[in-house]
Amino acid sequence: MQISDELKEKFQTARSVCVLTGAGISAESGVPTFRGGGNSTVWKGMPFDQISSASMVRENLAEVWEWFDYRRGVLKDCEPNAAHFTLAKWQDRFAGFTLVTQNIDGLHTAAGSRDVIELHGNIQRAYCTNCEKRFDIRGKIPHVPEICDDCGANLRADVVLFGEMLPPGAFEKAEKAARNCDLFFVVGTSALVYPAAGLAEIAKRNGAFLVEINPEETPMSGFCDFSIRMKAGRILPAF
Ligand code: OAD
Repeated sequence: MQISDELKEKFQTARSVCVLTGAGISAESGVPTFRGGGNSTVWKGMPFDQISSASMVRENLAEVWEWFDYRRGVLKDCEPNAAHFTLAKWQDRFAGFTLVTQNIDGLHTAAGSRDVIELHGNIQRAYCTNCEKRFDIRGKIPHVPEICDDCGANLRADVVLFGEMLPPGAFEKAEKAARNCDLFFVVGTSALVYPAAGLAEIAKRNGAFLVEINPEETPMSGFCDFSIRMKAGRILPAF
């Protein structure tokens, strides 16, 4: 699919650009998405939104860790792809640029993006369930330490689970960027999880030109000014 002349012009003249990414942008790096292609991830017979939920942390923290350590194991061999690298270049191309991600894989930062707003946390960090001390667990699979070295309480992944609030200030920063941009990209997200998906609506309501990049249609598609049904790693470098 071509990038239309209108979109080319919007891209060339944009002063402030905001991009919201989801699991699809990392698919070409080998990170499995949660939804898409008519499938939904299941872990040991459990839907992913059950194993990734606040109630599971309370009921069976060990099993939640098994799931996240498995996901971290998959990530060990994953590198950023052309889509991540392209977005890292965009940060120096526009007067204003904000990258907001729902991903917890850290691949945007690995590609060189600065100040990424990670709405759902980061799987390579853990925090103490008692004193909230943060731990970097990169490269440690299974995660180590298992308990907090300050207070001895259990650690949990620093990831926003279903039923939990977003990190303080993260959504507010993203919302401000969405409200003030003239071009907003929604890349590789099923646009089903709020409040993240609502950022595209906020941008459009405030006058931004809204572009979707996703091989599949989503609930956001009808609302977008332009939809590109292609893989992010193929089309983003073409900009
Ligand atoms: P999903 O797994 O729900 O959706 C992935 C989307 O990426 C689908 O719409 C696919 O069609 C699309 N896709 C697949 N390959 C692609 C490619 N190469 N290029 C572009 N798009 C592609 O992922 P999210 O929308 O990110 O929450 O899911 C939102 C949240 O739900 C996640 O952040 C996660 C999950 O529960 C947490 O981890 C807290």
